[in-house]
Amino acid sequence: MAEQGVPVTLTVNGREVRTSVPPYLLLVDFLRDTLGLTGTKVGCETGQCGACTILVDGISAKSCAMLAAQADGHQVTTVEGMAQGSAMTPLQAAFWDKHAVQCGYCTPGLLASMTDLLQRNPDPNAAEIRRWMDGNICRCGVYQNVVRAVRQVAEQAPGGGGE
Ligand code: FES
Ligand code: FES
Repeated sequence: MAEQGVPVTLTVNGREVRTSVPPYLLLVDFLRDTLGLTGTKVGCETGQCGACTILVDGISAKSCAMLAAQADGHQVTTVEGMAQGSAMTPLQAAFWDKHAVQCGYCTPGLLASMTDLLQRNPDPNAAEIRRWMDGNICRCGVYQNVVRAVRQVAEQAPGGGGE
């Protein structure tokens, strides 16, 4: 019997996507395998490592813990949709400046998480940044440089600077 797809309409990196998806398809697999957006990484597939973190309606979410069908009607942003053309976002530039990237496997997820943090709190202190990083595991151990990068963005923002 032919498999019944679930019709979905969502926006991915500013582009409308209308399709139908298998009811069991994970959002991370839809992004990577169907749309070819392989910037989003897969690690544990159990919601622990944060490699698959993206933004859904601007809020960080683990795309291995969501079905593609659940993204119906929502705005999804992956690492491919963060920069405007060739210009890095201030957070991406700060990751570069502060060497907050080693192998880069965790980087798309960390960028999504830290983008969400900075939207909620444009001037987080080091402890708040570390707490927010709780859901993102980095095997290379760039955590301290992520703190420095987020602080750089906070300090460069208008009115930012206090810790
Ligand atoms: S792959 Fe999603 S949290 Fe690890
Ligand atoms: S930079 Fe390698 S896992 Fe984080």
